[in-house]
Amino acid sequence: MDHLFESIDFEENPLYERIISDIANQQYCIVDHFFTNEEVHLLREGLLKAFEKEAFKKAAIGNRLNETLERSIRGDIIFWMDEAKATDDEALFFNKINDFIAYLNKTCFLGILHKEFHYAIYPKGTFYKKHIDTFQNDDRRKLSFVCYLNEEGWEPAYGGELVLYLNEGEKRIYPLPGRVVIFESQVIEHEVKPVNKKRLSITGWLKTR
Ligand code: OGA
Ligand code: MN
Repeated sequence: MDHLFESIDFEENPLYERIISDIANQQYCIVDHFFTNEEVHLLREGLLKAFEKEAFKKAAIGNRLNETLERSIRGDIIFWMDEAKATDDEALFFNKINDFIAYLNKTCFLGILHKEFHYAIYPKGTFYKKHIDTFQNDDRRKLSFVCYLNEEGWEPAYGGELVLYLNEGEKRIYPLPGRVVIFESQVIEHEVKPVNKKRLSITGWLKTR
């Protein structure tokens, strides 16, 4: 028939379609089991290893400027991931992300050209006060993407909920392993409630040019 329709190789992905329609309808989406238990396990191990290396480096350099000011807003410890130097487990993470970005770009005209991801550890007693993710004058951030890497059995008493401030009220989301939360970076105010137990995640942004 019409030779213009050459997208024979395009296969609709029901999960991605659900994510896209949730974001279109409510500006956020929650996906449980975006990562399998096995993947979460590997990524968590990787995070902890990277953290040890980083802590070691930091101890050698000494304390950093600005730290105290920032700690009253956010208490998490972050380190950026480098796709070019990805371990096998991180490569697996980026493969999934890249697959999703390719799908978005094929179906949504969002024009995602860049991405950035960091590991985050919230030690006991830390939090991240209410904010939006474009505060650093980076209006290229379109979608925020948070992946939780906690161990099985995260309990409400541990705290650490992500709270999204929506027009219709607050949405509280527990950081369950394998769960991914995606939301519009420029519009959704959110915070991380204080944690009573170390909380592990990867957070990132899909960005336009
Ligand atoms: C952030 C953030 C949310 C979360 O890092 O900017 O809001 O649930 N993270 O970890
Ligand atoms: Mn944020």
